[in-house]
Amino acid sequence: MAMKMRNKINAPSMLVTAPGGGGKTALIGEMKARNATNENKMIFVTMHQSPNGYSLKDLILSELGLGVGRRARQGHNITPELQYIIRTENICAIVIDEIHDALTLTELQQRINLSLLKNLSGSTYGLSVFAFGVPAAARVLRQDPQLERRYPVVALNGWENGPEFRNFVSSYIHHLPLKNKTNFQDQMLFLKIMNKGQGITDNVVKILQASAMASIIDGTEHINHRHLDNIDDIMASFNYALRGAEMPLEEEQ
Ligand SMILES: Nc1ncnc2c1ncn2[C@@H]1O[C@H](COP(=O)(O)OP(=O)(O)O)[C@@H](O)[C@H]1O
Ligand SMILES: [Mg+2]
Repeated sequence: MAMKMRNKINAPSMLVTAPGGGGKTALIGEMKARNATNENKMIFVTMHQSPNGYSLKDLILSELGLGVGRRARQGHNITPELQYIIRTENICAIVIDEIHDALTLTELQQRINLSLLKNLSGSTYGLSVFAFGVPAAARVLRQDPQLERRYPVVALNGWENGPEFRNFVSSYIHHLPLKNKTNFQDQMLFLKIMNKGQGITDNVVKILQASAMASIIDGTEHINHRHLDNIDDIMASFNYALRGAEMPLEEEQ
């Protein structure tokens, strides 16, 4: 919907936050797949993938096929070129993963990136910006009142032990290559997965995978309490580690 809104002074943008393993990158993958055939194009960049020390601007330029050469670095005005590409290719939005990396650099870099975030969604480029990062990213954005207004923060909450969670877990297990049925009527099973995983998708997925592998090895071929009660040992034997929940501060929710 945000992308369909035309002729706004500032294109609708948002910051999506979740702790590591909360499913941000998976969600972006889904957006990419769904946008593949859309006439309103999105471009995708990941701050994290910048081994060359690229700035946010460099990443965007190279994603658009504009070389990150000396020209751009030396302050050559690339705005018209950028505007041209955005218009002719009908690019409506930019999705930035791991935005916290752009906002936790030196103060100078941080200022440059924050002002770029303003320009991207402002009248110069008119792109909707969908930024994804850990909760700390919201704290940085909030330092600038203009950005705070333009980037509403949407916190992806972790799982709670409800029907949605049970649905996710059972359909995940259903797709695992196990010969026997796991007892989905057993609420304690879900509760144990929930408590151990602290509501983080990545943890839940790893608990299910490790339990499933253990059940193949022990021949039971379904996930049961014996696996969940020994999940620490089982996970350690597969070299899996659980993530700690990095809860957003109250004000950030
Ligand atoms: N909707 C989902 N269905 C299945 N697995 C998921 C889903 N969302 C996340 N995952 C899994 O959880 C793990 C962590 O998710 P990820 O998107 O990398 O988190 P983040 O980017 O927030 O750190 C990945 O292994 C991913 O495969
Ligand atoms: Mg990620």
